Amino acid sequence: MLNAKITGTGSYLPKKIVTNKDFEATLDTSDEWIYARTGIRKRHVIAEDESASSMAEIAANKAIQAAGINASDIDLIIVGTSSPDRVFPSTACLLQNKLGARGCASFDVQAACSGFIYALGIANQFIRAGGAKKALVIGTEANSRILDYSDRSTCVIFGDGAGAVVIEASEEPGILSTHMHSDGQYQDLLYINNPIKDQKQWGDEAYMTMHGNDVYKVAVKTLSRIVDETLEANNMAKSDVDWLIPHQANIRIIASVAKKLNMPMEKVVLTIENQGNTSAASVPLALDQAVRDGRIKKGDTVLMEAFGGGFVWGSALVKM
Ligand code: ACO
Repeated sequence: MLNAKITGTGSYLPKKIVTNKDFEATLDTSDEWIYARTGIRKRHVIAEDESASSMAEIAANKAIQAAGINASDIDLIIVGTSSPDRVFPSTACLLQNKLGARGCASFDVQAACSGFIYALGIANQFIRAGGAKKALVIGTEANSRILDYSDRSTCVIFGDGAGAVVIEASEEPGILSTHMHSDGQYQDLLYINNPIKDQKQWGDEAYMTMHGNDVYKVAVKTLSRIVDETLEANNMAKSDVDWLIPHQANIRIIASVAKKLNMPMEKVVLTIENQGNTSAASVPLALDQAVRDGRIKKGDTVLMEAFGGGFVWGSALVKM
């Protein structure tokens, strides 16, 4: 069976930056509270004329260039997002058109903050089964469109951005395994109501609700378990992992997973301080940053993990 290998990465962050200090002017909050509880200092926010698909386009073009292929070579596009431009067509379909990747299969995956890991897992299966040769896998989030900026328990946490990878069929080892799970009994702890249920406009009273403290407790336990599951599936020891790329939800959750792996924080790719939680975009944004600054090199073993509303959680172990 063929392997699926990551051959290019790319990302995009909007120009506008909102700092914790900026929130102090409009909310009963402080830079100290936000930083101490989350590890976040600032986040990027899209402009009026930007969207999940416009950010995805820029990230995708960078990944395509890094892979040294053409958009027309792509035969599969999967986008992980919970903040799509439209309910349908999918953001992946809009992206297919923007890129000119004519006729390829394209669809979105809705798995909250685990959207990119789920998308990567699906694309991996497609390639290994011979159903695609060159796939574009994206996480893109216009979170600012689904936040209530008067709710201090959510709006200070999330940011906007997009990350992309190209994965290609390869004889060499690449994606070693992916793992996906869900448990919908927790649906009321983190959700957005359906904005069209009552014939409302997208964004009209359809904001994110999060019971952060309850989410936190389950996230820590669940992510620790998935680290064990991933290593066992590959018959690997903790010391075999070169880099951890966690979903950037909270620095304290990240630190507890790193501790579980006996991994020093220098081996954990962190973007949370400057980007906040970009949901499905956070893992590919961090991956691209660490590839481009030379930390992650060819041959390195990288463990990616994510957890989000549902709950849905997952991991991917990748040989770069
Ligand atoms: N500034 C000041 N005070 C605040 C703020 C704020 N921005 N937000 C909440 N508070 C207050 C609360 O109202 C509460 O006050 P009270 O005690 O008077 O009621 C107090 O701070 C403590 O609130 P908690 O929610 O218990 O705070 P906690 O320490 O749990 O931190 C946080 C909150 C950062 C959200 C944390 O729980 C967390 O990171 N949870 C996990 C988030 C996560 O992993 N989500 C999954 C991925 S996201 C996705 O899928 C879309």
